[in-house]
Amino acid sequence: MPTNPEADGGGESVDYGFRTVPLGDKQRLVDDVFASVARRYDLMNDLMSGGLHRLWKDALVSRLAPPRSGKRPWSVLDVAGGTGDVATRILERSNGHARATVADINGEMLAVGRERAAKRGLPIAFVEANAEALPFPDASFDAYTIAFGIRNVPRRELALAEAYRVLKPGGRFLCLEFSAVDVPGLDRIYDLYSFKVIPWLGARVAGDAESYRYLVESIREFPNPDRFAALIGRAGFERVDHRLYSGGIAALHSGYKL
Ligand SMILES: C[S@@+](CC[C@H](N)C(=O)[O-])C[C@H]1O[C@@H](n2cnc3c(N)ncnc32)[C@H](O)[C@@H]1O
Repeated sequence: MPTNPEADGGGESVDYGFRTVPLGDKQRLVDDVFASVARRYDLMNDLMSGGLHRLWKDALVSRLAPPRSGKRPWSVLDVAGGTGDVATRILERSNGHARATVADINGEMLAVGRERAAKRGLPIAFVEANAEALPFPDASFDAYTIAFGIRNVPRRELALAEAYRVLKPGGRFLCLEFSAVDVPGLDRIYDLYSFKVIPWLGARVAGDAESYRYLVESIREFPNPDRFAALIGRAGFERVDHRLYSGGIAALHSGYKL
């Protein structure tokens, strides 16, 4: 965790983009970002990533391989699930066999998700909840997914501990997150694009450059895949591994509660 106990006059502090803020302030700042962009969130994802986020999410769903049939019910919890994009893809892949719950701390993101799921007749349960303290019993889900969410959570180790707690033995943990581009040439283009084009797009499409500046900065502050994999292992998960996509723009982390 990139915390720096010195920067807050002795209190705990944490990264918020390139700034360091008191630990207790980060969640409110993050909530303001997503409340501001909720209505334009999915459109912005398509524009910013040129549609790549769809391929990364599909890669997550393929690795999850939700069962398409079976006598036993199978349930997935998608944390920081926002507008329900990942949960929708999982339900579609499972041919309706999976049960999906989306948990997110932000009421505005959930409201967009609820409306969309209702229009499409998708049986997704949307629950307002903090990843750090989930309102679900121990061992209640077959899988836990989190896509582009964990870097926004102030106490990531608590979120990982909660993921472990709510999974059934044998349960699957999958986390999609931005990573560090490590391809000479691509890294410079990616930086230019991230710091110039994305805030510009944010201003024009979502009316909010600042929130998109935070999103870009938070990607740079997130631990590299090996360090993050170590945190996943420390939470108790086994067979931890990760795969990089698109030259390292995104990473898919996997682990099991055995
Ligand atoms: C970048 S969005 C990702 C949304 C969705 N998973 C996707 O990939 O399209 C990050 C989400 O994390 C949520 N979030 C931030 N902090 C959270 C927390 N502590 N607990 C649960 N959700 C949180 C935000 O409200 C937001 O919906």
